[in-house]
Amino acid sequence: MSRAPSSGPQPTSDAYFAEMWGRADDPWDHGSRWYEKRKYGLTVAALPRPRYRRAFEPGCGAGFLTAALASRTDHLLAMERSPRGVSVTRRRCAAMPGVDVRRGRIPHDWPADTFDLIVLSEVLYYLDDDGLALSLRRAGESLEPDGHLIAVHYRPPVEEHARLGDDVHGALRAALGEPMATYQDAEFVLDVFSSPRPVGGSTPSSPSLSQPPADRPT
Ligand SMILES: C[S@@+](CC[C@H](N)C(=O)[O-])C[C@H]1O[C@@H](n2cnc3c(N)ncnc32)[C@H](O)[C@@H]1O
Repeated sequence: MSRAPSSGPQPTSDAYFAEMWGRADDPWDHGSRWYEKRKYGLTVAALPRPRYRRAFEPGCGAGFLTAALASRTDHLLAMERSPRGVSVTRRRCAAMPGVDVRRGRIPHDWPADTFDLIVLSEVLYYLDDDGLALSLRRAGESLEPDGHLIAVHYRPPVEEHARLGDDVHGALRAALGEPMATYQDAEFVLDVFSSPRPVGGSTPSSPSLSQPPADRPT
């Protein structure tokens, strides 16, 4: 029996991504725009722990954030729908141990592994309702009990996006609960979530008992 199509927003078209990635190795100018540099810096700075064992970053694009995350992770699985994006990210991270770049699309290629860090940067607003709901479900299932999920999305409307960044973060909060940390300005919103399945049943925002106390300013 065929499934009725979702009545909500349509996903961003395959043609859009083919056209963008047909243009350049860095089609969104991630390597040169101050918006990206500032946002990557804040994203990495907002990670609560100094190191993560195993991270997943779907929609890694040209791999600029991937390279920044590599220095904080023992193993990082970066996924990208575009073969060109996969090649560019592989080249950028070639000298970085523990970075595995795979071709794939969320939600359907969401890996079966579990992660203590999931990074969703500028990727969820391309999905339709079903794709977003399934991605959030897979994220909640694959986040380890002591894990963190960080999400960051552009806020102003963009014609090619299926939905606003604010709507993405509303859906994330509905799925994962209130973020343990948040940053928002006119350009982007960034939320950090702890696992919905916390270690030992403690509250989502409380630190894991297995972690040493965080460094404190003196
Ligand atoms: C705006 S770029 C952001 C790249 C990177 N996350 C960053 O913040 O620099 C979005 C990337 O996600 C990829 N993408 C879009 N939808 C995807 C999906 N469903 N699964 C995997 N990659 C996707 C696009 O090809 C593009 O490279």
